Amino acid sequence: MCGIIGKAGDGNVIPDLINGLKKLEYRGYDSAGLAVLNGNVYSSVKTAGKVEALAEKVTACRCSPGSTGVGHTRWATHGAPTDKNAHPHFSPDGKFAVVHNGIIENAAELKKTVLPQDEVYASDTDTEVAAHLLAYYYKGDVIGAVSKTVNALQGSFALGILCSDCPDTLFAAAYASPLFAAKGKTGAFIASDMGAVGEDAAEIYQLADREIARLTKDDVAFFSADGKPVVKNMVNVQVGQLSLEKGGYEHYMLYEIMQQPDAVRDTILPLIRDGHIIRHEGFPEGGFVRDRLNRIRIVACGSAYHAGLVGAALIERYCGVDCRAEVASEFRYAAPLIDKNTLAVFISQSGETADTLAALRLAKKKRAQTLAIVNTEGSAIATESDAAVFTRAGREIAVATTKAYSAQLAVLYALTLYLAREKGTMSTAQEGAYTQELLRLPEKIRLTTETVSETVTELAGLLAQKEDMFFIGRLLDSAAAMEGSLKMKEISYINSQAYAAGELKHGTISLVEEGTPVIALATQPEVFSKTVANLHEVKARGAYTVLITTEQLLGREYAADKVIAVPDTAGPFAVSLAVVPLQLLSYYTAKNRGCDIDKPKNLAKSVTVE
Ligand code: G6P
Repeated sequence: MCGIIGKAGDGNVIPDLINGLKKLEYRGYDSAGLAVLNGNVYSSVKTAGKVEALAEKVTACRCSPGSTGVGHTRWATHGAPTDKNAHPHFSPDGKFAVVHNGIIENAAELKKTVLPQDEVYASDTDTEVAAHLLAYYYKGDVIGAVSKTVNALQGSFALGILCSDCPDTLFAAAYASPLFAAKGKTGAFIASDMGAVGEDAAEIYQLADREIARLTKDDVAFFSADGKPVVKNMVNVQVGQLSLEKGGYEHYMLYEIMQQPDAVRDTILPLIRDGHIIRHEGFPEGGFVRDRLNRIRIVACGSAYHAGLVGAALIERYCGVDCRAEVASEFRYAAPLIDKNTLAVFISQSGETADTLAALRLAKKKRAQTLAIVNTEGSAIATESDAAVFTRAGREIAVATTKAYSAQLAVLYALTLYLAREKGTMSTAQEGAYTQELLRLPEKIRLTTETVSETVTELAGLLAQKEDMFFIGRLLDSAAAMEGSLKMKEISYINSQAYAAGELKHGTISLVEEGTPVIALATQPEVFSKTVANLHEVKARGAYTVLITTEQLLGREYAADKVIAVPDTAGPFAVSLAVVPLQLLSYYTAKNRGCDIDKPKNLAKSVTVE
């Protein structure tokens, strides 16, 4: 997936395109490029690497200005991340320039069956086919050519299109991929995320599937897939400039780790009144919970899935309802047993992860009641679900999520307590007691960042020299171990695996050698001694052992070379504290290894392809 931006303006649009692309880099940063029209002459600059490299190249080559243009930042799907495969791509006659987010699934077929066989392609991308098709269908009417192209393409796409015959006009089309169009003070814009345009975007519209937009500096018009004009309503999306501030920290990731107390507090406060969890409008109605609800599925990807694992374990334990967390990319192609008595919960920071969105659509088709836990208002997952509860983590920029994950856990705690009370499996008094502890969580998270800091930085120096490590835990700690392990591998590039502590001996223990780090989480009193026993087993085989536990459990016997204790809290919430040293451990380990922490290689923050 990629980020696209376009502007039809008055003066030179290149600075706006570059500024916008910098804010879209969370969607991918393998390569970047832009094209502008000056009269009917194109200037185009493309490069492998980040937007900063593009900006330098634009200056170095004294790229000619233009008042209409498109820009792109890429997460490679088809073709290596090279200059050649960077967008925009051009039609063979040089008339059309195209930027694209998504995957054109029938690109090879279109090359074989529709486009002339002697057509020469300049890149290995699927996108280039769209540029060729536009020229192939073009008979002097751009909307007509876009319409035919859009109908021929399969897969997902958000396209920004320029045609040198219409130098003041920008065209766009979308299918199953987010794309916004807006009128602004200095021109008209398209963008994958209007935050890239910021406050200059006044009237904002979102393109529906196979819709086409035509933009000039003073006007935005929309057309259906068959090229007929359509009237659209504006959408209400947050466009506050995407802040690129780091709050004085060296990296966004560290800044965002430190913002977690606020993220959790801002998320839970709207869900609590008079010391109890309220029936938030996003939560299912009490009657449904008591009389019908018999199955819950929590569906998500990446860290959001890890948060879902915690939620599923809690809901099953405290609410007595069959509850499972599932990976969205599997769920959407499986045959999930869900019906109108099912609550299907979809967790997503971005609200636009393609697999999670497809899973949501499947659940709706099967008439499940759907609830989204989302960080981005106006996103597809928030809009399409029956109800939504928003995490209030604020904009997260580091690719490795931290504060959004913590805010997701916070909503899942509140949901668990609400469901348990409504189901009658937890007394109101007990729910109130847990809610009090939930209210203390933000401060305990802050305290954790302080108390673990010294041990974590010291330990990170050692871990940075390793190439393999393991994270283990039981019950909720097992889910937290998965998140800790993911954080470590995604930003430090150390091969790290997470196991339910009891599973390690069923094969994986053969990989433990002298000095292999094994990091055990043991915050759940009922299984503390079991996890410690597993730590003994690996220590006996030479492992370097680390134990993360709570202050209260510290007094017990353990088998660790290094111990990190987080403040005491009620068992269900300990994950929220234990994950903090894990995040910091991965951060400092990656820092010691000189990694690009905020933009790890091969990753993107928002994944709009399946
Ligand atoms: C990407 C990100 C992960 C994130 C996952 C799900 O892979 O790199 O950090 O957890 O997508 O994203 P979502 O926006 O749906 O939470």
